[in-house]
Amino acid sequence: MGEKNISTGGAEKPAPPRHIAIILDGNGRWAKRRGLPRTAGHAVGSENFRKIATYCRNIGVEYLTVYAFSTENWKRPEDEVKTIMRLLGKYLHEAIDTMERDHIKMKVLGNVAGLPQELRELVAKTDEISSRYEGFQANICLNYGGRDEIVRAAMRYAADLRDGKAPEEIGEAEFGSYLYSAGIPDPELLIRPGGEERISNFLLWQCAYSEFYFTDVLWPDFTTEELDKAIVEYHRRDRRFGAVK
Ligand code: IPE
Ligand code: IPE
Ligand code: MG
Repeated sequence: MGEKNISTGGAEKPAPPRHIAIILDGNGRWAKRRGLPRTAGHAVGSENFRKIATYCRNIGVEYLTVYAFSTENWKRPEDEVKTIMRLLGKYLHEAIDTMERDHIKMKVLGNVAGLPQELRELVAKTDEISSRYEGFQANICLNYGGRDEIVRAAMRYAADLRDGKAPEEIGEAEFGSYLYSAGIPDPELLIRPGGEERISNFLLWQCAYSEFYFTDVLWPDFTTEELDKAIVEYHRRDRRFGAVK
């Protein structure tokens, strides 16, 4: 690890992992500390995603997967949920132009059928654009839950088995192809800003061997320098995958 270096404007930095996952947490507290409504934090947070995604693409990350709305987040006050959905719609709408311009792939992971109609249409559009490009891919987890994903995968496999489209015995790779993340390699690094040290139902299957990086910095304050710090820390880890070195 740490042997590969890339040049980013002068100083040598360690090469980033192929796939970084981030739990976008701390928007509400960021706003509260400023005497603003929680929704103001979501607006700044979604803007920050744009910045960090661009940075990831520029330094050579291949996949960035972010947790934007969980299957549990529906428990929040109706007003907050509505604002988050509106911001997500605005974000996806604007992202369509960026995708066309920069040839970026964007995939929504989660139970899309449970999203409002307008968002479902935007997701169909981003899927269609993504199919035309190769290269950096941003995955946005919306109405996503790790357990929900695994249960749905099991049901899809059961249906294929019933229809004679799948063999009776399958392995981890075959099961993985029924997940929302089919075809996407597991994240090497999972970052959670916002001070909580838990997974909150994110990528339960995919993070089996990811390195976890927690920071108290709230998501709207999370800068490209913070990301660099996480990457440096990642290179310090000794990844053994159960073996002896
Ligand atoms: C993350 O920020 C955004 C979503 C979960 C939608 P939070 O809204 O959870 O912010 P905190 O954790 O309350 O500060
Ligand atoms: C996790 O954050 C979900 C997202 C960031 C989308 P939460 O704020 O919902 O997680 P908990 O409630 O602190 O576990
Ligand atoms: Mg939170």
